[in-house]
Amino acid sequence: VFFRGIVVTLVLVLGASVIAAVIPDEGLTRRDGGLARLEGQALLYPEGYERWPVVGAAIGLSYSDRPVTRDGPGNFHRVYLSPAAYDAFLTARTFPEGTTLVMEIYEPAASAPPLRAGFYEGRRVAVEASVKDRRFRGGWAWFDLDNGKAERAAPVASESCLACHREHAATDMVFTQFYPRLR
Ligand code: HEC
Repeated sequence: VFFRGIVVTLVLVLGASVIAAVIPDEGLTRRDGGLARLEGQALLYPEGYERWPVVGAAIGLSYSDRPVTRDGPGNFHRVYLSPAAYDAFLTARTFPEGTTLVMEIYEPAASAPPLRAGFYEGRRVAVEASVKDRRFRGGWAWFDLDNGKAERAAPVASESCLACHREHAATDMVFTQFYPRLR
């Protein structure tokens, strides 16, 4: 009876782990895959995005109406894509629901020994994000994450983000034409 009890327990434990492996935990999957966690329209801070694939980096891009006034090369932009969306895009060439992109902006820095020329990423000045979700008008929303300090962020209210991304971005509101990993 004792041994039968152990066998039954083992079977139950094994069975439970097989089921757990087959049915993914929705919460875990969303967090691990970096798919957006939304509360209503608000985006919860995409914890751990620093470990996501970097799909492109740029320096000195300017596309706002403000005149370009700068010494040096202009800011660095670095764009991260949530891992589940990255995998999906490489196979299907489309972005799944929940896709999150994060763009960090750094000021250029120079002149630290032993450098004689060139620029590296200095102070971070902005963290922005975009999320694909059909709850948003146009299917996407854009967020200012307050240079990484926002625990949650409401979508940027102005239409300007949507307008430019819709008109000029190569793939579904995303500027894949500037990202070597995706184009
Ligand atoms: C006039 C055009 C324009 C406007 C307006 C604009 N963007 Fe972008 N955005 C770009 C371009 C070009 C890129 C790609 C290259 C880069 O900046 O590194 C980009 C890239 C991004 C990315 C990286 C993912 C992607 O879609 O390629 C995010 C996130 C982003 N923008 C957020 C915003 C937010 C938030 C706003 C509104 C506050 C905004 N953008 C307004 C032109 C624009």
